[in-house]
Amino acid sequence: MDAIHQRRSVRNYTQQAIDKATVNAVLNAAVLAPTAMHQEPWSFVVIQDRGVLDRLSDKCEEQVREEAKRGDFPSSKHRLHLAGVPEFHVFHKAGTLIIICGKHTGPFVAADCWLAAENLMLAACANGLGTCVIGFAVEALNTAEWKAELKIPNEMTVIAPIIIGVPASEPPATSRKPPEILLWK
Ligand SMILES: Cc1cc2nc3c(=O)[nH]c(=O)nc-3n(C[C@H](O)[C@H](O)[C@H](O)COP(=O)(O)O)c2cc1C
Repeated sequence: MDAIHQRRSVRNYTQQAIDKATVNAVLNAAVLAPTAMHQEPWSFVVIQDRGVLDRLSDKCEEQVREEAKRGDFPSSKHRLHLAGVPEFHVFHKAGTLIIICGKHTGPFVAADCWLAAENLMLAACANGLGTCVIGFAVEALNTAEWKAELKIPNEMTVIAPIIIGVPASEPPATSRKPPEILLWK
């Protein structure tokens, strides 16, 4: 319950690197998630190379600008706005990105991967680390170019990119509406 209540999306990180043991600990927590028909349909990519993260951030921003130039309604006005902010970095300058990939297609593959994602984020939080899902990067990561660069087999799908690091500041408090109960018979 402590981790559930304390977890917040962190968008400001120190430059302190996350060591291998810590990455393995959160990955081990991720794979304890419930999984439909015990398929365990997840694979992980860990990126700690600053150059790769910067290039990927640039690619995500470029994609949004191109959508706008083509006159396509950008998938999100918010993303387009962010892409225009000079200091913006899609990964909030975090030093580690963990990408959860679905190994095949199937009705519950995405569900399993998101459950693994939440386990990972709660485990990180319980260890004093911050995380944030980066949906902004999903489209770029699913291009043939980036799958090839990151050795993600073509039949796999990137589902949940998550940054992780040591928080540099306390994230602002957020709130939630109370659960809306449609029926309780
Ligand atoms: C599917 C998904 C995609 C998200 N994508 C981004 C993103 O691209 N960049 C970002 O800074 N936060 C992203 N977030 C984080 C949300 O903005 C955040 O969870 C929400 O504002 C609630 O705040 P909290 O996580 O601190 O409770 C994403 C969250 C989810 C679940």
